[in-house]
Amino acid sequence: MPKLTIDKREIEVAAGTKVIVAAERLGIVIPRFCYHPALGSVGACRACAVAFLEGPVKGIQMSCMVNAMDGMVVSTTDPEAVDFRRHVIEWLMLHHPHDCPVCDEGGHCLLQDTTIAGGHGLRRYKGTKRTHRDQYLGPLVQHEMNRCIQCYRCARYYQEYTGYRDLGVMGIGSRVYFGRSVPGQLESPFAGNLIDICPTGVYTDKPSRYMGRRWDFQRAPSVCLHCSLGCNVTVSARYRQVVRLEARYNREVNGYFICDRGRYGYAYTNAPDRPRQALAAGRITAMDEAVEHGRSRLRETMARSGSQSVAVIASSRSSLETLATVKQVCRLHPWRGPAVTQTRREAANLQTAVAQLKPEFAVSLGAITAADQVVVLGADPLNESPMLALSLRQAQRQGGQVTVIDPRPVSLPLPFDHQAVHPSRLPAVMDRIITLLGHRLKSTAPPATAIAEPDMAWAEALVRQLAASRRAVIVCGTDITTPDEIGMAAAMAKALRQLDTEAKLFYTLMGANAFTAALTESPDPSIESILEQIESGSVRALLVVEQDLWQCYPDRVRLQAALDRLDLLIVMDHVASPILDRADCVIPTQTLYEAGGHWINQEGRLQNAQAVLKAGEPIAISGQGNHPPRHLSPRISGTEAMTARAAITALVRPEDRPQAEEFDRAMEAAVDAFHPVIISLDPRHIGRQVDSDAVGGTNPVSQTSSRAAAADAGRDTITLLMVDWTLGTEALSSQAVALTESEQNPAARMHPRELEAMGLAHGQTIAITTDKGRIALPLLADDRMAGGVLLIPRHHQLDWQVLGATRLEMDRDRISAGT
Ligand code: SF4
Ligand code: FES
Repeated sequence: MPKLTIDKREIEVAAGTKVIVAAERLGIVIPRFCYHPALGSVGACRACAVAFLEGPVKGIQMSCMVNAMDGMVVSTTDPEAVDFRRHVIEWLMLHHPHDCPVCDEGGHCLLQDTTIAGGHGLRRYKGTKRTHRDQYLGPLVQHEMNRCIQCYRCARYYQEYTGYRDLGVMGIGSRVYFGRSVPGQLESPFAGNLIDICPTGVYTDKPSRYMGRRWDFQRAPSVCLHCSLGCNVTVSARYRQVVRLEARYNREVNGYFICDRGRYGYAYTNAPDRPRQALAAGRITAMDEAVEHGRSRLRETMARSGSQSVAVIASSRSSLETLATVKQVCRLHPWRGPAVTQTRREAANLQTAVAQLKPEFAVSLGAITAADQVVVLGADPLNESPMLALSLRQAQRQGGQVTVIDPRPVSLPLPFDHQAVHPSRLPAVMDRIITLLGHRLKSTAPPATAIAEPDMAWAEALVRQLAASRRAVIVCGTDITTPDEIGMAAAMAKALRQLDTEAKLFYTLMGANAFTAALTESPDPSIESILEQIESGSVRALLVVEQDLWQCYPDRVRLQAALDRLDLLIVMDHVASPILDRADCVIPTQTLYEAGGHWINQEGRLQNAQAVLKAGEPIAISGQGNHPPRHLSPRISGTEAMTARAAITALVRPEDRPQAEEFDRAMEAAVDAFHPVIISLDPRHIGRQVDSDAVGGTNPVSQTSSRAAAADAGRDTITLLMVDWTLGTEALSSQAVALTESEQNPAARMHPRELEAMGLAHGQTIAITTDKGRIALPLLADDRMAGGVLLIPRHHQLDWQVLGATRLEMDRDRISAGT
């Protein structure tokens, strides 16, 4: 390990450490523009010059380009180095527009800080400035090319780190230009990170343009709710509205970056139609009256039909505190529920994944970047959990190989092997891989494959690669898969461990707090089973907590009929939904940004989000867009919104004092069950892993075998799969106008062979009819997907819920040309 001296202080660092990093470890921050820990060194900006006084390197050198070596004596304060850096900054500023007063980067601009810190306070250049035309880059990122200092961070991030090519560097000499060859929407779903990575204001956040300086904002650390990965973010709010989200560094989860769904998906919290006023019997009322109305109606229902006639539906976007409270309330009464997952298959998938994911097998999103082999089973990373795709890219860049076994036309920003396997064949393929691994362990010859050649040639090659790997990761989805397949993914990781590899397991789940939901859902989980109980008449009252059934439940006809049978429907939420119009009682709740709380991501990592603002209608709405508002009012709409946890408690807390105290203790105990993990949260919000067994375990799983499904899948039928897209399908982010401008229009997809056999054409509108309903949408041919499959996105512009299922074997004559 080389030992060197920097500014008269000694330090020993690992071989290969750059001098700029060694200095940072001593707390000495050398100026930099082009160097970034995620991108490495390129030596483009010359801002990090230091003097090498003694040792193997001499003179003024770039500290980001020189490896620390034994015997080096480095000075960052040497007059020659300081002068060099001052001149570098002066020439970088020659053509800068000095538009800091109107620049959104102002206040958190690395160029601004370094200019001042570098001693360049007086502009001597009197010539004409070089200017550029800015480009339209879409609704999310604002381009201001005149502010560029040619550090190349944007092009390197965009092309090398994310793997997209539509933004890069053009021109030569003083006319170097960073942008697209033609103006237009940036194609990468990680383009928003350009805003964070650019050290000046060339790329700024478009939706929050001119909304304030960094120091004007209330800011707090938080987590993203738009998929189960739980990326870390910093939230900025001003004038009672969330205005911006930025990536927050967490080495174990998202590193320095987040996806655009996560960055811009917050708009639901500011939405003008967000429920902010309590309703009782269809009339706007004060919050306490609505709560009292709900309480008395619940008491009536229980007196008439018993406490088992009340059921509770909760949500995987709610906090741990809310889910634990709901569970405790259900246990005390006892009420039915809580149910969180939509269908029995989904519930069984979730329970299986969480039960299988033991801490010794769990791998973080950050650690996947070091994997040498990744097998993705029944998962579409970019569409389901976008940052997983970015981690896979980093693994591939470091020499790892990625194989995806999935029926969808999986697209990733990296070279990978895709086996488009029909869902019914997935268990057999996985079984075969496990068998082959077993034979490797015993050094015996495997039996002949049950799957016809040439299909198995790739599986055998894959097994050879896996057996030779050191750090393999098995990734498995829980959306289109079955419990059998989820269990087999774990079996695959275990088989690899026996082969002396450090194999790990990574499940993607359906919802930000799905892991907690698995620990708190009732033994007979799923909304599907609650609806059955409503249909049978055994459930008469339903309490829905932060779950938009209208958007998420896959059988809207059935849902509507079931809700019509209820005596009482109480909804607590902060998301507008047609369900609210049917409710007897509506209690507005606070969002994550107002309530804070804890979330457990798909890896079992407990993370904390802090409240950033108090609930209340944004001034942009209450003040008709003016500040100060032109119409003054003694009260602010929305300030009464409670946390969901407080709302549930208020609804059921006994009036009798001793009973109420006992009730409060029971509620505290519910959350206390998680306290051993909560209180040991790392203060830097890195989080820690939760062992599902340590906090009560999951429910036993009962589910029909996927092998039965395989037997059902005949050549005459087609498998309909409802799937997620990066943008347009996730319920909360689909409300963000900035994202809807970027999303694709909904379209079905089939393999071209199927189109030909069915007499359909690419681009044609088709109608799909099931026993429940009918939808029409354009059909696209895609030869990257498996045959015998019809894919439909759960797109917010599409009434996909009328078809009645997310996975269905259907006759081909159910698909026809027509509108
Ligand atoms: Fe949010 Fe998921 Fe994107 Fe991460 S990958 S920023 S958790 S949507
Ligand atoms: Fe070293 Fe740019 S940070 S040359």
